[in-house]
Amino acid sequence: MNATRLTIIFALNAFLFCTAASVGTDSMQEKRKPWRVPKRALRMKNPVKPSVKGLALSKKLYMKECASCHGKDGKGKGSAAKGLEVKPADHTNPDMNKEVDGSIFWKIRIGRQPMPSFRGKLKKEQMWGLVNYIRTLHKKPATSKDKKKPKVDKKKPASKGEKKKPGTKGSN
Ligand code: HEC
Repeated sequence: MNATRLTIIFALNAFLFCTAASVGTDSMQEKRKPWRVPKRALRMKNPVKPSVKGLALSKKLYMKECASCHGKDGKGKGSAAKGLEVKPADHTNPDMNKEVDGSIFWKIRIGRQPMPSFRGKLKKEQMWGLVNYIRTLHKKPATSKDKKKPKVDKKKPASKGEKKKPGTKGSN
């Protein structure tokens, strides 16, 4: 090995060390870029309709495969979450309502460090089922059987005139 080569290796190491140091673990969370979900994934339609039976199965699967990081309640505080440099997503976050099914499906399938990819580990139907289950964590599933309960905001007492009759169908 000649001297020039050694210098290059040394310089490279110094460079790598500096970059690693500047991306300290504290700033990891903020530096996390939004996921780049491909357009074709966003257009995918969920072929699995949420059903009581299906959701129960998906819940079981979630407890087995996801709860270690995302927590049994989906809040992202599972037992394995503490050791991770990136916090597992909070599936109870109402912001997830803005996300389309295809996007959630794609994220489960592809994963992103430290979240593993479930491609090949779970069937597509299982992943779509998990999307439906995650929906119940931040939103009630909109099945035709589902009777919509009027949401009562505990902070703001509903005015007397606004009481909804049970069984009133929503716009959905
Ligand atoms: C090893 C821990 C771990 C396991 C196991 C895991 N996840 Fe994650 N998950 C993460 C982390 C960490 C993130 C945040 C990744 C990021 O932001 O880059 C995440 C993000 C997500 C997101 C993206 C949320 C959003 O903002 O849109 C979804 C959806 C998700 N996980 C679903 C699942 C499902 C479903 C399972 C089980 C089949 C699972 N995860 C298993 C760690 C995990």
